[in-house]
Amino acid sequence: MPALDELIRNHRPGYSLDQAFYTDPEIYELELKRIVYRNWILAGHISELPQPGDFKVVNIARESAIIVRGQDGELRAFANVCRHRGSLVCLEAHGNTRKFSCPYHGWVYGLDGELQAARDMPADFDKAAHGLKPVSLDVIHGLMFICFTAEPPSLDGCKRDLAAPMAMFDFPNLKVAAHRSYPIPANWKLCIENYQECYHCATAHPEYARMHTLTLDLDKRARMRAELRKRMPACGVDDYDVHFIDTAARPGEMGYGYSRSSLFRDYKTGSEDGEPVAPLLGKFTAYDGGASDFSFGAFSFLLAYSDHVVAYVFTPVDQHNSTCEIYWLVRGDAEEGRDYDVDRLTWLWHITTLADKEIITNNARGVQSTYYEPGPFARMEQPERVYTEWLLQELQRP
Ligand code: FES
Ligand SMILES: [Fe+2]
Repeated sequence: MPALDELIRNHRPGYSLDQAFYTDPEIYELELKRIVYRNWILAGHISELPQPGDFKVVNIARESAIIVRGQDGELRAFANVCRHRGSLVCLEAHGNTRKFSCPYHGWVYGLDGELQAARDMPADFDKAAHGLKPVSLDVIHGLMFICFTAEPPSLDGCKRDLAAPMAMFDFPNLKVAAHRSYPIPANWKLCIENYQECYHCATAHPEYARMHTLTLDLDKRARMRAELRKRMPACGVDDYDVHFIDTAARPGEMGYGYSRSSLFRDYKTGSEDGEPVAPLLGKFTAYDGGASDFSFGAFSFLLAYSDHVVAYVFTPVDQHNSTCEIYWLVRGDAEEGRDYDVDRLTWLWHITTLADKEIITNNARGVQSTYYEPGPFARMEQPERVYTEWLLQELQRP
């Protein structure tokens, strides 16, 4: 295998990545260190952990974190790794507890991570020095993010510039109506590359293509967006365009972006029949027939319709396996059965994600072939091109 700098030097701008980026174990180790563990990743919404003692476990590659609300109401995150001999401490995916007892030898940790009890240890054993190690956690207008480094990128710009668009949807007061996890037998980059482009949508997603105009060429899309902009004020919707994504991120900051695009006529939201699936969000007074794209760093993407939000998180399990987590968010006071039906709410992105899983899996098979060589991106794949350049830039960072 050629050295990494040679691979990066040989990368042809506008072409997909060399095979080694999908298959070489050393590159995967570098990716974990320089990209995956160094960036903020969406870990859910604060409404999942309303009470003291509520917790959830988030697994990303070889790391596992416990996010827990303390007795003081604060959210904290800890490495799910016992300070005795390293066992996972919490084996449940979520729940409510007063303490975490390690299943191996029974060391007991409080909700603040402090070691409370360790049976039969010598008299001079320093319990205070053996608490669970903290993991970086921050909340962006209700969305929880974690990062497995003590010096994560700054979220200041993101919090500031996305405050107004997020306020429109009242993000802090949303709730998770459904949460599903899709295992994908493919390298994590193939999953995110797929999410970056809609060149495949017309062929792979007939249901999506029926309602979303991202499948159109750029001129037609711009015309539909101009019409959407005229409809927005009467629906209580403001127009924002924020673009600090990937290579356009400010130095030291997590990248982020926001834009709203039009759905086809007769579609109020992303549902099977185009009709509402939940109560209008936040400041919306009517359906403008639009859908907003948010991006938060390199792993987390949101699609915000007028009445619900769909959040996607793509993360590696190992080099050849990934997870796509999807959260469907609705207004916090919406009641299941009365205001929304989970099957109707999740219909579009459940079938679309299953279709994506299939095409990504086929892609993963093909890029491992001796016949694979990097191929040229289409015009509609420009975001993927930028994303690829960002990856290479981050891989070279010491
Ligand atoms: S490894 Fe946790 S108590 Fe021993
Ligand atoms: Fe897709």
